[in-house]
Amino acid sequence: MKSVNWSPETWREKPARQMPDYQDKAKLADVEARLAAAPPLVFAGEARRLYESLGKVAEGKAFLLQGGDCAESFAEFHANNIRDTFRVLLQMAVALTFGAACPVVKVGRLAGQFAKPRSAPTEVVGGVELPSYRGDIINGISFEEEDREPDPERLVRAYHQAAATLNLLRAFAQGGFADVQKVHQWNLEFVAGSPQGQRYEELSRRIDEAVAFMAACGLTPEKVPELRETDFYTSHEALLLPYEEAMTRVDSLTGRWYDCSAHFLWIGDRTRNIDEAHVEFMRGVENPIGLKCGPSIETDDLLRLIDVLNPENEPGRLTLIVRMGHEKVQEMAPRLVRAVQREGRNVVWSCDPMHGNTIKSSSGYKTRPFDRILAEVRHFFAVHRAEGTYAGGVHFEMTGQDVTECIGGAQAISEEGLGDRYHTHCDPRLNASQSLELAFLISEALKEERLARQEDRQAMPAAS
Ligand code: PEP
Ligand code: CO
Repeated sequence: MKSVNWSPETWREKPARQMPDYQDKAKLADVEARLAAAPPLVFAGEARRLYESLGKVAEGKAFLLQGGDCAESFAEFHANNIRDTFRVLLQMAVALTFGAACPVVKVGRLAGQFAKPRSAPTEVVGGVELPSYRGDIINGISFEEEDREPDPERLVRAYHQAAATLNLLRAFAQGGFADVQKVHQWNLEFVAGSPQGQRYEELSRRIDEAVAFMAACGLTPEKVPELRETDFYTSHEALLLPYEEAMTRVDSLTGRWYDCSAHFLWIGDRTRNIDEAHVEFMRGVENPIGLKCGPSIETDDLLRLIDVLNPENEPGRLTLIVRMGHEKVQEMAPRLVRAVQREGRNVVWSCDPMHGNTIKSSSGYKTRPFDRILAEVRHFFAVHRAEGTYAGGVHFEMTGQDVTECIGGAQAISEEGLGDRYHTHCDPRLNASQSLELAFLISEALKEERLARQEDRQAMPAAS
């Protein structure tokens, strides 16, 4: 793919939503120049590898697990937080691999997920109006004038934090932490300690047998690198375009442009207008990319966006991340799926069951009920089953910490309990135990899907 009339700065000629208004333009230009000279965070070859893996997802031969913070923050930057989120993602991936019986492509909302779109540009507290918090890469969360002023220097700090995070993730992924036997052991501990553990015992017992069988055949992590190392990719919303532009480089091997701030980038639901800056920027980078599809998306607009973002119809290039809400998904997703199918477009269909299910609790906290999150995933699978398409992935806001931000799950977090450990800088995240529970439940659903597809194939009359 080589985009026509595109360069990393052509987005500047288009209207751009959700972008901060920096007072000190010279300081911003200086920061952009420093970042443009700084080393890339990822290598184009890695982004191509993810592209290929997502191509397998588009063909129904792999499954995508994408998850992590809603917003990373400078305050929560700690090795233990990174380790714990990474660990839960690995644990989820083991459960999902078993259910789907295919490789699980792991992509973190990590090492760069800092900028946030907001529903209002300002916020009023006690009669005082200040700019809204837009993520640590832009301004500070405390309700003070000085902190809320967008500061270009924050781009540099976010870049360094992303670099250190990515460095640790690479070490974890390749240095023995991802050993499948160890990850499975953590899952057994989770099942033993979960109030509804017996529900997951059957699945974990079967995984246990599989791991023991492999070991008996001599397939141990010591001998087989695939059992001790894993591919792990990073992603974030490409919202703050001066940052993304500065990180965009020509790959020396192919001569093509890659946004080297992460392997995978997505366009948010609020910035997906076809004639505007975010779509313009993203059409030209060669990374695998995502597009959030909320309830307001029109079928025709989606098809036009697909034309612009994936003109060569390559599988793996574009992931549609559907986030309708548990009630709307059954009603709204089929028309999108049918149109994409009818036009023969190769996409990955992924389900974000978080952003359409946010409610305000009686205690005043933004929260998401576990049951609605699960319901949206189940409905999403049902839609694809009915349409004969492949539900290829899930997208979660989650953390490895024991927070109380989403209600429900086996721990039965109540609305009153939300205040105990509510730490998110933006939207409510699933905690470690809720994330795993969800992965076990989705694993069961994936297995049912797989068996149903097999039956469909067997029931089909042979072509003569
Ligand atoms: C997000 O993923 O954090 C987000 C803001 O999502 P959306 O664009 O779907 O609202
Ligand atoms: Co969010």
